[in-house]
Amino acid sequence: MPETLMPLPADFARHMVDWQRQHGRQSLPWQNTQDPYRVWLSEIMLQQTQVSTVLDYFPRFLSRFPDVAALAAAEQDDVLALWSGLGYYSRARNLHRCAQDVMARFGGEFPQQAEALQTLPGIGRSTAAAIAAFCFQERAAILDGNVKRVLTRVLGYADDLAVAKNEKALWALAQDLLPAKPGDMPRYTQSLMDLGATVCLPRKTQCEVCPVARLCAAKRQGEPLAYPVKTRKLKRSSATLWLLWAVNAKGQVWLQKRPDKGIWAGLFSLPVFDTEDALLAAWPQGQGAQYITPWKHVLTHRDLHLHPVRLLGQFAPACEGQWVDADAWPAMGLPAPIRVLLAAD
Ligand code: ADE
Repeated sequence: MPETLMPLPADFARHMVDWQRQHGRQSLPWQNTQDPYRVWLSEIMLQQTQVSTVLDYFPRFLSRFPDVAALAAAEQDDVLALWSGLGYYSRARNLHRCAQDVMARFGGEFPQQAEALQTLPGIGRSTAAAIAAFCFQERAAILDGNVKRVLTRVLGYADDLAVAKNEKALWALAQDLLPAKPGDMPRYTQSLMDLGATVCLPRKTQCEVCPVARLCAAKRQGEPLAYPVKTRKLKRSSATLWLLWAVNAKGQVWLQKRPDKGIWAGLFSLPVFDTEDALLAAWPQGQGAQYITPWKHVLTHRDLHLHPVRLLGQFAPACEGQWVDADAWPAMGLPAPIRVLLAAD
């Protein structure tokens, strides 16, 4: 066990569990179940997406793929299509691979220990712990962005989390704070998520209603917003994409499936070119180009400057792809900005 010099607040877990019972969220559709398939699916969806959006996607996904076997047997394109609009599509590709792995390596049953769950595609340490705690009452600590904020504030943990050894030390502290009784793990885990989402917010705190305000080092210092400390900034890059938007007389649009790697991997998109010349070279008919006003689409690590060129004609563009009926593409997995563009037509 790693040695920690930080004194731990007494009864932290008990205060959190009591608060969750009275004030936490009780009836989200992925609560009140111990089915690891549902808990896993919700945790993956909730990683980068708001609860209000997930409330919409979660039941739709479940009715199409009610269990891990159904998901594993699906075509990747169908999984990506159901994910369309949630963004961060590597989550959907990993979700599909993970389901196939659960079938192949674990006989169709999710493993019950966080350590084994972590060996599956797309399941990191915190997600593995959440599934193990919610479904199997394992004493495993979660530590996502919200929980880092809550714990660094309560503990007054000021070491830079951009440094790996400091983050590791915080994991050890998170483990030390867990309730002693395994039966308390589901509610305790939910309490951390709920407090981070509703009370101990990034730019605002509601210490008046916080169950652990009296234990909180950051509150005592009068500086709750000073935590967490993390120095490294995201390195951003930008790219210009020329989008060939070919439409034929039947109103069909030319779409190509993106490669497995890189931007919009595995999705269906308008053909993408680095330059205007390269785009026009793929349009041998050479007439009637309509330049759509470019716009910037912001991703986590990159700004995309999108330059669509709309072209009408009979012949297929000289690039990989297929004509797709106007009533077929809405059900396919398309990047959000391409969907918006086509829908505005
Ligand atoms: N965010 C991540 N996991 C969650 C959960 N189980 N409930 C609410 N929000 C969450």
